[in-house]
Amino acid sequence: MSPTASPRQSGTQAEAESAARLLAWYDRHARSLPWRARPGERPDPYRVWLSEIMLQQTTVAAVISYFHAFTRRWPDVHALAAAPLEDILAAWAGLGYYARARNLHACARAVAGGHGGRFPDDEAALRTLPGIGPYTAAAIAAIAFGVRASVVDGNVERVTARLFALETPLPAAKPALRALAQNLLPPAPAAGFRYGDFAQAMMDLGATVCQPRQPRCGLCPLTDICAGRAAGIAAELPRRAPKTARPLRRGAAFWLTRPDGSVLLRRRAARGLLGGMMEIPSAGWQAATAKDTARNPAPDLAAAPAPAAWAALPGVVRHTFTHFHLELVVWAAELGPGPGAAGSVDGIWVRFEDLGDAGLPSVMDKVARHALTHLAEETPPGRA
Ligand code: ADE
Repeated sequence: MSPTASPRQSGTQAEAESAARLLAWYDRHARSLPWRARPGERPDPYRVWLSEIMLQQTTVAAVISYFHAFTRRWPDVHALAAAPLEDILAAWAGLGYYARARNLHACARAVAGGHGGRFPDDEAALRTLPGIGPYTAAAIAAIAFGVRASVVDGNVERVTARLFALETPLPAAKPALRALAQNLLPPAPAAGFRYGDFAQAMMDLGATVCQPRQPRCGLCPLTDICAGRAAGIAAELPRRAPKTARPLRRGAAFWLTRPDGSVLLRRRAARGLLGGMMEIPSAGWQAATAKDTARNPAPDLAAAPAPAAWAALPGVVRHTFTHFHLELVVWAAELGPGPGAAGSVDGIWVRFEDLGDAGLPSVMDKVARHALTHLAEETPPGRA
């Protein structure tokens, strides 16, 4: 390709050359990731699917240990389909976006039950399965089955915006970026073309070379066709519309212990935020108003799981969800040894040393640490 070539030149020759160069780069520089087939190996659709669900809204670095744990415990779709949902939710704890774990289970059951254990190999059929949207269907079709599918995640959006010097801000630019990324694929039929590797090469290029703030254009196999680099604006792309601020919500968590060194947990309702996950009983989570502070108004202790001498621990636990920031005041109390006291409370009692295996989501993990730290320090809390 000539140094002045541009990806805007449609024409199979330019596309074929840039695609071939990208694949040659990938052969030398692909990240070694546990869900990827080694050269010459057939991809395992179960592992591809599992990784793609885990990678939705989560970084590669965060996913790797979960991927190993899941595949060790549930090596194929039949094993995962046979597992109790509670076990999957507990193993997913800390990865966030827990609806994904429920859909994972539903999808495993659909594939094991309705498809004889085989994932469908085309995008439309994949999209009928729980938890598989357009992006994930394209990724599985390309990576597991070598289908011509354009796979556009955040990394690929950035690469594409730069290659084409598209200055429209995200998220409005998404449809245009998808169309441009589609144009980078060799037109069908391209027998033997490695569509799965092409998709992952674009992702890896974005993650390791075409990085957000400091693109390493000197290492890029597509640098001579990059319109963003030619215009000197690659590092500024993609542009983004200003973010709307996340609102603040406030609530209370209730750390109820027994003299035997256990704490009360309960399961959240199946639907809604953190649906079906274990929690330290909590209440509130209401939008904060300009006037109130974390402790004012104090949460309604009627929402506590049992009447007791509740005392607020110092400080607050902060956690950020996609759509809001949360501040929780942690209230602590110990149930007396009186007969039947603990038995009348809804939930399960878990020993402090077993909390790590209880499947608590990150926000509740923070609450537990907060309570254990403060109670170990024996700071006399202010009585409610
Ligand atoms: N992000 C989403 N899918 C991915 C994959 N297959 N490899 C690396 N990063 C990804």
